[in-house]
Amino acid sequence: MTARRSADPAWWQTGVVYQVYPRSFADANGDGVGDLAGIIQHLDHLADGTADSLGVDAIWLSPIYPSPDFDFGYDVADYVGVDPKFGTLADFDRLVEACHGRGIKVILDLVLNHSSHLHPWFESSRASRTGPHADWYIWRDSPGRTKAGRRRPPNNWRGFFGGPAWTWDEGRGQFYLHTFLPQQPDLNWRSTGARAAILDVVRTWLGRGADGFRLDVFNTFLKDAALRSNPRRPGGRGWGAQVHLHDRNQPELVGALAELRAVVDERPGRMTVGELFDGSAADAAAYAAPGHLVFDFGWLGLPWSAAAFREAILRRDAAFGPTVWPANVLSNHDQPRHAGRFDLLPGGEPSLGDARAKVAATLLLTQRGTPFLYYGEEIAMRDLVIPNAQAFDPQARRSSPRAPAWNRDQARGPMPWRGGHGGGFSGGVPWLPLPPDHEVRNVERQASDPDSVLSLYRRLLSLRRATPALVRGTQELVDVDDPEVLAYRRAADGRSALVALNFASRPAHIRLPVPAPGGPWRIALATHPRQGRDALGEALGEGIGETAILAPLEALIAYD
Ligand code: NOJ
Repeated sequence: MTARRSADPAWWQTGVVYQVYPRSFADANGDGVGDLAGIIQHLDHLADGTADSLGVDAIWLSPIYPSPDFDFGYDVADYVGVDPKFGTLADFDRLVEACHGRGIKVILDLVLNHSSHLHPWFESSRASRTGPHADWYIWRDSPGRTKAGRRRPPNNWRGFFGGPAWTWDEGRGQFYLHTFLPQQPDLNWRSTGARAAILDVVRTWLGRGADGFRLDVFNTFLKDAALRSNPRRPGGRGWGAQVHLHDRNQPELVGALAELRAVVDERPGRMTVGELFDGSAADAAAYAAPGHLVFDFGWLGLPWSAAAFREAILRRDAAFGPTVWPANVLSNHDQPRHAGRFDLLPGGEPSLGDARAKVAATLLLTQRGTPFLYYGEEIAMRDLVIPNAQAFDPQARRSSPRAPAWNRDQARGPMPWRGGHGGGFSGGVPWLPLPPDHEVRNVERQASDPDSVLSLYRRLLSLRRATPALVRGTQELVDVDDPEVLAYRRAADGRSALVALNFASRPAHIRLPVPAPGGPWRIALATHPRQGRDALGEALGEGIGETAILAPLEALIAYD
């Protein structure tokens, strides 16, 4: 096995990150829930140093800490432990060792805006107004009663999952704040004690070998000191009925992030990636820092349209400029999976879904920035169909006609490794059903099909690794005379790569830009078979002149 790039200080910039949702990745002990041992068993899929694996550089584990699972791990009851359903701290150490042995970095999900209501810090905080944790959460008296005799909350803030952001605690005789569920009380980042304890959590995991952290909803860590009410947003519903002026993006956040990042920076080569909650590309750029990425979720809601992606890329490039490094993402555990999303769009034909997934993969893995893959996207996994009435997801369970919410369980289905009972995910009964097409759409099957989505991901990752222009090159959008083709040129070290993505379900005749030193563009990858092979019989290298024809939904990469 080669040493790969693990010694590279900027691995967070050059690498590809793979998000594992531990409950759904692989279940080693047969209880129906994925676990750390299951992840260890499947590391070959992620990176085994050969072309028979994806070759990712890092994994991000959604929360693995003890949790009562009101929000599936995003309600943490012990920040420095491992939930028994996932294994033990010793399993975590084994996982880190196994990953590091393969050159894979390990990124943990830190949920530092709120804990579980069952965390001992909150239990102690709610028990006494004078105890050691009294100010670790955000408590306020009620300003009085409504005409109907109900206690009025301290302000008008809403919880993201519906209802007020304040819950009355009988014992303490005060309201506490929760941006999400009542079972997820917000930590008070203005409390010196709480902040020191939070930073200790970060130190603990760094000491245990974590290479970085995904910071859950980092831009809500600080709230307005005076807890002023938010202005109303006319016509909005639920969370969208307010302008979130005072419950996120506060000026003091910058100092808090600097403190947290300084702890991470004590260990060279560690990083963070922040989940920007409800923000723009400009917000993402403003909060990013060297070694500290911020997701720009601008691509998640886009329709299947070259023009829409072109605009989003221009908007992002304008906000990020040449120095801020983007974190690119098409799917995650909170959103409909993109392969299905692009099928279901107006005019979407499911039979073309895999072709679209291939175009999307080429975009994700060749755009400037660090690509984040979501488990299952490498086989173009689709969402499960689970009605809200049967949901585990609290967001869906609290959905109402006035504030409808999507059921996130649907994007969290068990990974189908192979056909047959349990799909290679579990020997028991999986906590969510396997995708109905798992007999035909699974890792084993796609691994043996050179034209599968999985084969394309493997190839794209290996091409990317070998091509400095794709990893760290500049990027410039290119007009190829067809509005349904998104094209761009990446350049580094005097060499260029041209990427052309045909979003249309018809062939596209495109005009190519003149390659840098004047030679012809040579095709390095095409998702449809051509004369010189590929899709993915490989070879190619075939030169193309000033014009080219792209097949319907074809993605093409050419080098000068
Ligand atoms: C964002 C996470 O991605 C989501 O899954 C979770 O429900 C909320 N933060 C609350 O932690």
